[in-house]
Amino acid sequence: MEIVRSVAEAQQLARTWREAGLSVGLVPTMGYLHEGHESLIDAARAACDRVLVSVFVNPIQFGPTEDLGSYPRDLERDATICAAHGADAVFHPTGDDMYPAGFSTYVSVEGLTETLCGASRPGHFRGVCTVVTKLFNIVRPHRAFFGQKDAQQLAVIKRMVADLNMDVQVVGCPIVREPDGLAKSSRNTYLSAQERQAALVLSRAIRAAEQTVRAGERDAARVRAILEEEIASEPLAYLDYAQVVDGLTMEPVDTIGQTALVALAVRIGETRLIDNFIFEEGQSCS
Ligand code: PAF
Repeated sequence: MEIVRSVAEAQQLARTWREAGLSVGLVPTMGYLHEGHESLIDAARAACDRVLVSVFVNPIQFGPTEDLGSYPRDLERDATICAAHGADAVFHPTGDDMYPAGFSTYVSVEGLTETLCGASRPGHFRGVCTVVTKLFNIVRPHRAFFGQKDAQQLAVIKRMVADLNMDVQVVGCPIVREPDGLAKSSRNTYLSAQERQAALVLSRAIRAAEQTVRAGERDAARVRAILEEEIASEPLAYLDYAQVVDGLTMEPVDTIGQTALVALAVRIGETRLIDNFIFEEGQSCS
């Protein structure tokens, strides 16, 4: 497996693949890979002839008081994981190569970036959409793989791809959880043992809300109340948001229709964690 460190090299490698008639899968990541990322690489491996994993902690999607400096980084470990899962290349560019002096073009998706994480993290999705657009332009993948844990991010990227006629298929992959329910996240490494235990409140709350919706509850306020009560029961948890939104527009709903996203963001100590479930009428309990 190759490690490619410049934009020009990554562009050249992907071009060679495409010219040989091979399908290209891209797995965009910020590194410190876990089983959630591994499932994306596995899905890309199964669907594409060549798989490129990008590992880049994208500075422009972090707010000024967020964890850009402390975000965990370990390229050697990431490369070992990528190789073990059959990736063909890791793309690990520098910040200067991605954002050279004079960089001044950004991609903003309106509307569905204004709720949930978009409301709590101003500028976050502009940074995500800009880097994902750059990665799509560099690699020109046939398919790109994203996790459903970042459900709003997935919806925003799908919107961007449709609106800007980007020639790539965006594939969403299910949330991967620890055996006790905690959704896998690179940020879980920030948690102390006590906080790790407290963090289980997120998946408990999501599970309780999911069971209520599956049992027929359609009043979004009641579902939000279930989430809020569960979070309030954990002294180390501070609620950022508990919301029920339309699965496509990310607009809050009063009544749950055919599809909805039930989403949570909670601070456990200094660590902000998210979790969700996507409701689609007719689907059984996961
Ligand atoms: O989900 C992530 O890890 C990041 O937001 C992404 C899509 C790699 C862009 O930096």
